[in-house]
Amino acid sequence: MGRLVIVSNRVGSSLKGNEGGLATAMLAAFDRREVIWFGWSGEVTDEPSGPTRVHREGRLTRMLVDLERSDYEGYYLEFANCVLWPTFHYRVNLAEYGRERWAAYRRVNEMFAERLAPALEPDDILWVHDYHLIPLGAALRGQRVDNPIGFFLHIPFPAPEVLATLPVHEALVRALFAFDLVGFQTENDLQAFRDYVEREAGGRIGADGTIYAYGTSVRAASFPISIDTRVVAARAARAMSTRQAARLRDSLSDRRLVIGVDRLDYTKGLVHRVDAVERLLEGKPEYRRSIVVLQIAPPSREDVLEYQRIRAELDARIGRINGRFGEPDHLPVRYINRSFRQETLFGFYRASRVGLVTPLRDGMNLVAKEFVASQDPDDPGVLVLSRFAGAARELDSALIVNPFDVDQIADALDRALAMPVEERRERHAAMMSHLDTHNVHAWRDSFLDALQQPDGLFTISPPMAAE
Ligand code: ADP
Ligand code: F6P
Repeated sequence: MGRLVIVSNRVGSSLKGNEGGLATAMLAAFDRREVIWFGWSGEVTDEPSGPTRVHREGRLTRMLVDLERSDYEGYYLEFANCVLWPTFHYRVNLAEYGRERWAAYRRVNEMFAERLAPALEPDDILWVHDYHLIPLGAALRGQRVDNPIGFFLHIPFPAPEVLATLPVHEALVRALFAFDLVGFQTENDLQAFRDYVEREAGGRIGADGTIYAYGTSVRAASFPISIDTRVVAARAARAMSTRQAARLRDSLSDRRLVIGVDRLDYTKGLVHRVDAVERLLEGKPEYRRSIVVLQIAPPSREDVLEYQRIRAELDARIGRINGRFGEPDHLPVRYINRSFRQETLFGFYRASRVGLVTPLRDGMNLVAKEFVASQDPDDPGVLVLSRFAGAARELDSALIVNPFDVDQIADALDRALAMPVEERRERHAAMMSHLDTHNVHAWRDSFLDALQQPDGLFTISPPMAAE
C-alpha cells in the first residue's frame, strides 16, 4: 500500500486540544498506513521561511513549514479567513477582497507545492484539505506531480449567487478541476457546486456524476465527515469518573446542565444562542435557578478583527444575563474561553441534559456528533441542532432549529429540558445507529476508495451513497 500524503493548513498535534474539526477528524482517521502530513507549523517568522521540518512519530511523519509574516497575513489571515471563510459561510458583507491577498494565497499554495513535490514517491496518494488549499492541486500538477490527488472541503460550498460575489470565483472553481476527486460535506454543497458549474461555467454533469467544464472534468461527491463513534462513547463513559467531571457535577447540585462547545467564531451563532437563553429565563422564571448553561468557547483567529468583535459582544451579553438573573450563589451562564482535553469535554457532554449546537452555517459540526456519542444510552441528553449545520442532514432525531430564530431556540431548549426519558432514549438510539456505521473510518475509506477508482468507474461505497 502506498503512503497517504495529507496536506492541510493546520496540522494536528496529539498534544493540543481545540484545533477544529479538520485536525480532530484526521487524527482519528489514520490507522493502518504510513502517513505524511504536510502543512503549516503554526509558526510565523520575520525572516523568509526556513527549511521544511520533518518529525516522525511511529507511522506518522509531519512535514512542517513556517510562514513568514507577510504570507501569514496575506494568505491565512486575509484571504483564507477574511475572504473565503465569510463568503463560503454566506457572510458576504464581512468579506474583504483585495488583489494582494489573492496573490499571497496563490504564492503560499505554490510554495507548499514546491516544498512537497520533491518528497513524493510514485505510489503516494495525496489528500488535500480545505479552503486554504484550493489552488494546490494545480500547483502540484505544475510541479509534474501525477499521483492521484483528492480534495475535501470541510466548510460549506456556497450557492452560485453567493460565490459569484467573490471576484476570483472562476479561478477558484477552475482550480478544483486539477484534482481527481473533490469531496463535499453534504449533498447540498455538492448540488451548489454542480449548480455553479452549470450556470456560471456552462458545464454539464455526466450520468455517473462526473462534472465537465473548462475543457476538462472532475469527479465530485459528498462524504459527510464523522467521528470515531465507539471510541468517543467509551472515552465519555470513562471520563465520568475523572476529577474534572466529578467537580462539574458536584458544582451543579440538582441543576441541569446545558452545554455549548464551539471555537469562538461568528459562524457558530453564539450571540443568537445567548439571546435565546436570556429569552428562556425571561419567559420561564422557573429555569433561573434550575439550569446552568456552560458555554466553552476557546478563542480562535484572534488576529482577525471580526473575531475580536464577536468576543467583545459575547462578553457583554453574557455579563448582562448574569447581571440580570444571577444570585449570590448561582450564575445562570458559565462562560469559559479555553481548551480542554477531548476526554474531559466528552465527560462534560455526558453530564449535560442538553447540547446546544446552533451555528448560523457550518460545514458539518463534529461537536454535534461528539455530543450524541458521549451520552449515556439509558439517560441521554438532547441535542438542539441548527438546520444549517451539515450534521442536521444526518442527525434528524435532534431538535432541529432555525438558529436565527431566538424564540425557536428558547422553545427547543424548554422542550429538551422537559423531554421524558423514553423519548430521549429513542432519539438518541436513532442517531447512534447512524453514527455507528457513518463513522470517521467509513468517511476516510469511502473517500480514498473513490479517489483510487479509475475514471469511468465512479461509484461511491454504500454507507455514504445512502446519504
Ligand atoms: P470547527 O471545525 O469549525 O472548529 P467542529 O465542531 O467541526 O468545528 O470541530 C471542532 C472540534 O474541536 C471538535 O472535535 C471539538 O471537540 C474540538 N473542540 C472545540 N472546542 C474545544 C475546546 N474548548 N477544547 C478542546 N477541543 C475543542
Ligand atoms: O474545520 C474548519 C476549520 O477551518 C479547519 O480548516 C481549521 O483547521 C479549523 O477550522 C480551525 O481553524 P484554524 O485552523 O484557522 O485555527
